[in-house]
Amino acid sequence: EQAEIGVVGLGTMGANLALNIAEKGFVTAGYNRTHEKAFELAEEARGFGGTIVPAKTLEEFVAALKAPRVIVLMVPAGTIVDDQIAALRPLLSDGDIVVDAGNADFNDTVRRTRELEGSGLHFVGIGVSGGELGARHGPSIMAGGPAEIYPRLQPILEAISAKYEGSPCVAHLGTDGAGHFVKTIHNGIEYADMQMIAEIYGIMRDGLGLEAGAMADIFAEWNKGGLSSYLVEITAVNLAEKDPETGQPLVDLITDEAGQKGTGRWAVIEAQKLGAGATTLEAAVSARGVSSRRGERARAAEAYAGLAATSGQFSGDKAGIAELEQALETAKIIAYAQGFAVMDAASKEFGWNLPLGEIARIWRAGCIIRSRFLDDIASVTDSGETVNLLVAPDFVSRVSAGEGALRKVVAKAALSGLPVPALSAALAYFDDYRRARGTTNLTQAQRDLFGAHTFHRLDREGTFHHRWPAV
Ligand code: 6PG
Repeated sequence: EQAEIGVVGLGTMGANLALNIAEKGFVTAGYNRTHEKAFELAEEARGFGGTIVPAKTLEEFVAALKAPRVIVLMVPAGTIVDDQIAALRPLLSDGDIVVDAGNADFNDTVRRTRELEGSGLHFVGIGVSGGELGARHGPSIMAGGPAEIYPRLQPILEAISAKYEGSPCVAHLGTDGAGHFVKTIHNGIEYADMQMIAEIYGIMRDGLGLEAGAMADIFAEWNKGGLSSYLVEITAVNLAEKDPETGQPLVDLITDEAGQKGTGRWAVIEAQKLGAGATTLEAAVSARGVSSRRGERARAAEAYAGLAATSGQFSGDKAGIAELEQALETAKIIAYAQGFAVMDAASKEFGWNLPLGEIARIWRAGCIIRSRFLDDIASVTDSGETVNLLVAPDFVSRVSAGEGALRKVVAKAALSGLPVPALSAALAYFDDYRRARGTTNLTQAQRDLFGAHTFHRLDREGTFHHRWPAV
């Protein structure tokens, strides 16, 4: 029996994706550099009545596929993708589709699309979110590539994707790199969301002296309200877990050095290139960087050991905890508004016409940032022209109701000497964004003085240069 689809790269994500596809009834060819992995997976698929056709060589793999072929690459991002495409190319024929389902830099996806143009092969970049379990049982899938190719992939992608109240969390979002771009912004938002949760955790731990178990209960409670989301849910699980050997909360034994594979950083770089600075995402990426310099931080802690913080700012009573909850919810709205604003800017810049409401919809299940809140965003972005979420009426009332809490939390944290880089970035962005008369009139005056960079005037049309006094 010929396979309807093939997966190259059977690491954790590839293997789970292949099993997912096979389980949905599609005969799937599998190839891995160490080919034993493909045979193991074939065995596993047999267990649930699925078919994975294992291949020892790329030639065998390609021969196992029904033409025109659909080949999904699930290999590490970077040159390995290029190498894999180069290895496959001589074996493929006109009309075959190569899908890169890894966490690619969208710039690479755009380049690869160009390189394969006119070759007879179609290249499709798709973003897949949901970690291992998502890949196995239903991820959120963000597809790019040519619109006319999408219908070929649609039945399989819809079958394997997560479902939100029955509707599949997958969509074609735009040409070439659109899918990977949206996945990158998803990850940037993921970073911001995680960082803001960590900052609130820091306030509870260092400002209120709460134990991990007590914090687990609070997050579990929050997960029933407006903050209901996968990330808040896992936070409660993380905080409740005990180290089997010492019996201590495991989170207390984990070093405070965050890793990163780079997608959050890409999101921030692209945001900056588009002039749509996403400051909460930036704060989150930077905070991971600072966190990894543990030795340096220990030295700085010693150097400033004499500094007295104004303790006692925060209160652990019901109102105090509710204030933290509301601050987090409000900052989260601002972070998502930034992420969506970056996508809006990219959509215009790259001519993708990104369906922002559809993006919120396919993020409601399967992906790491899935939450109740995304459903609210979906309904806002549905209603016509895209605007910054912060000025959508529903969010105006929510942010108006919550900004006081965010402001108090940021102010108290500042007085306590507790770092809240993402929460404070959210507040600063909000205050900046809602200020009709900003301060860059002075920046323009300075630029004009030292570089004759010119300026516009409020009271007259045109471009002006002033002869400033010589300094
Ligand atoms: C997802 C995740 C996934 C991966 C991140 C982790 O959506 O499923 O975002 O892609 O877990 O790449 O990123 P860092 O290693 O950079 O934290």
